[in-house]
Amino acid sequence: MTRPIDVAVIGATGAVGKEIVDILQEREFPVGNLYLFSSSRSAGTEVIFRGKSIIVQILTEDSFEECKPALALFSAGSSVSRKYAPLAVGAGCLVVDNSQEFRMDPEVPLVVPEVNPEAIASHKGIIANPNCSTIQMVVALKPIHDAARIKRVVVSTYQAVSGTGTEAMDELFQQTQMMVSYESEEIKPLAYPHQIAFNCLPHIGPFLDSGYTEEEMKMVFETQKIMDDADMRITATTVRVPVFIGHSESVNVECEKKITAIEAMTLLTQAPGVEVVDDVDSNLYPLALDVSGKDEVFVGRIRQDLSVDNGLDLWIVADNLRKGAALNAVQIAEIAFDCRREKVKTKSILAEMEQN
Ligand code: A2P
Repeated sequence: MTRPIDVAVIGATGAVGKEIVDILQEREFPVGNLYLFSSSRSAGTEVIFRGKSIIVQILTEDSFEECKPALALFSAGSSVSRKYAPLAVGAGCLVVDNSQEFRMDPEVPLVVPEVNPEAIASHKGIIANPNCSTIQMVVALKPIHDAARIKRVVVSTYQAVSGTGTEAMDELFQQTQMMVSYESEEIKPLAYPHQIAFNCLPHIGPFLDSGYTEEEMKMVFETQKIMDDADMRITATTVRVPVFIGHSESVNVECEKKITAIEAMTLLTQAPGVEVVDDVDSNLYPLALDVSGKDEVFVGRIRQDLSVDNGLDLWIVADNLRKGAALNAVQIAEIAFDCRREKVKTKSILAEMEQN
């Protein structure tokens, strides 16, 4: 029996923070006391955890010394992590950080449990949770990389607005309402530089001098770090689309060794955390709408790239709030505290799609 672990969730009222609280409950993480933190904006909010009411508190410099949690799951953005994660570590806490703040720090492991769980052991108080688009891509690419060594990746993403946060979700909802009700009032975009409803924005994060965006370069550098392969060449185009939950990715890989689509499909079928949904005769392939609330990374449209010798094309979809953020963070904590549970497999997406 694992002894109870006191846990703090920072950013508990946000899109990812709420998911973290649900997942801790769902997976029966051995939580002793649960402390929930936000900014002053939503402090005082009541959250029900295991049938008990917990009031969200304002995060302060003294929070960790006062509560002494053993684990702090941060999801309140880089500036909050920069200031408060070292304070949490100083108070004896293990930090699993969902922001980009520490991801490329060579002292900080960047972990996807299906890919590099061994990296957790080298932590010095902070473990970084990768970017949502990176997580789902590496879970699907790892078995192919192990079998045929991926030399080059070309990825285009179709990312949901929940990756930006709750305000962006509200904005997509409001803009959609305005568009369908033909309201004459002008749409004023806030979360993005342009209207997101009925649109696709090839712009996630600030532009860099290279012409890439920060999100695109996260996919490059984080993938190389997690796969422990600095020679893997990666180019990404990241696009925000009017979807609430579920990131989709079109991924092309070129391998050193020949690998057929059938071989790749067999490997992916056996891979941890992956579910293959690929039956084009029945119009079955992973869809953002279907993956919401699911834990797996879904892969379909697995086919030979006819333009190169050892190439494959894949369509990879996952719930960006769960595997792309909250679930991955909790899985890291489960390994770090040695309380990994046999996961109750969510109902097979294929079974569900066939029923409908
Ligand atoms: P709040 O609800 O008080 O703004 P999202 O990414 O969905 O917008 O959520 C961001 C989360 O981070 C929210 O829970 C938000 O709290 C929290 N947050 C933002 N700034 C701070 C801060 N300075 N200290 C603690 N939590 C913060």
